[in-house]
Amino acid sequence: MPDEKRSYRSAAWFAKTDKDGFVHRSWMRNQGLPDHVFDGRPVIGICNTWSELTPCNAHFRQVAERVKRGVWEAGGLPLEFPVMSLGETNIRPTAMLFRNLVSMDVEESIRANPIDGVVLLCGCDKTTPSLVMGAASCNVPVLVVSGGPMLNGKYRGQDIGSGTAVWHFEEELKAGTLSAPDFMDAEACMSRSAGHCMTMGTASTMACMVEALGLGMPHNAAIPAVDSRRYVLAHMAGRRIVEMVRDDLRIAQVLTRQAFENAIVVNGAVGGSTNAVIHLLAIAGRVGLKVTLDDWDRLGRNVPTLVDLMPSGRFLMEDFYYAGGLPAVIRALDQRKLIHRDALTVNGKTIWENCQAAPNWNSEVIRPLEKPLVEHGGIALLRGNLAPDGAVLKPSAASPHLMRHRGRAVVFENIEHY
Ligand code: FES
Repeated sequence: MPDEKRSYRSAAWFAKTDKDGFVHRSWMRNQGLPDHVFDGRPVIGICNTWSELTPCNAHFRQVAERVKRGVWEAGGLPLEFPVMSLGETNIRPTAMLFRNLVSMDVEESIRANPIDGVVLLCGCDKTTPSLVMGAASCNVPVLVVSGGPMLNGKYRGQDIGSGTAVWHFEEELKAGTLSAPDFMDAEACMSRSAGHCMTMGTASTMACMVEALGLGMPHNAAIPAVDSRRYVLAHMAGRRIVEMVRDDLRIAQVLTRQAFENAIVVNGAVGGSTNAVIHLLAIAGRVGLKVTLDDWDRLGRNVPTLVDLMPSGRFLMEDFYYAGGLPAVIRALDQRKLIHRDALTVNGKTIWENCQAAPNWNSEVIRPLEKPLVEHGGIALLRGNLAPDGAVLKPSAASPHLMRHRGRAVVFENIEHY
């Protein structure tokens, strides 16, 4: 029986000796839970976005099982719960329409239940910001486990990236240089394992943001979904969240201004998605911090893009992991004093302690500072009569000839028209 030094939030449900306590415990026992798990140990919610309609997160039952192993091992009680899952590829009209709805689902699920700390299982684009936003509003101990990227797409001897390749194949189909059967064949070659998009799209970007913010364990961003080390990370996350509850390490202590500034810099270095801008602004708001577009411009504009990943570059997330992953990038950025070393992370160490010895095994994938993919690769803020409140641009992914452009503005009626 764990000898807890203090009582946790869940004690308001499970430690009661009256009728309410009877009700709270009795119904839980129908899952086969014995007496001793109601001894005051940390109750860990595992917030799961598993869904077969969200293919990027379809392997999350297995990930959740590994988190549970770690929670049990550390003397906690794991309780998994579902929230609405947002899959980019199927949800209409757009998953973004429901991001805030899911954040409310997460927030109210945590607030309403006997949960002392929570592990968020995130993968597909909007699942990460929505879960982090909801949990941040509750300010409980939070640890994020990303589901990991798919293995590299392989088609006719070449690596192909999620999304990036689709537009290319469609153009070829229309031009008659790719047959309909070959087009169908390419589908299976692109998405050939569990995991989310393996380009530096929004899902990979947000997984990097989670790690840079200190909400995920080192290497959370890049370990492929099917690599056994992803399950080790999930197991260790289960152990760690129990310690975080015991240490009362809450999400607001991790999500500091320093953490957001680190994330903005890291976004530039990985050539991250512009969607990170709106998501990070929203997450910051949940912990009462004001992070603005101007912060992105000021901190990110001159950051060199070091990670040579599609769509800006050549490689994919699997290569990124083998090259050293995000810790190697953070270590490189520190050479220019771009990282707040003291920012705390969920494993109880500072980001610098986590990354100071990180090796770079492949300088083609993670380029050195002297030879970046793009010299000024961060997010650029634009203002003008088309966007008076500001618009963002990712220079690393823009065609150089369009960086300065004069032309007619065309307004489309809808996505099909476009
Ligand atoms: Fe889910 Fe790209 S469609 S991450």
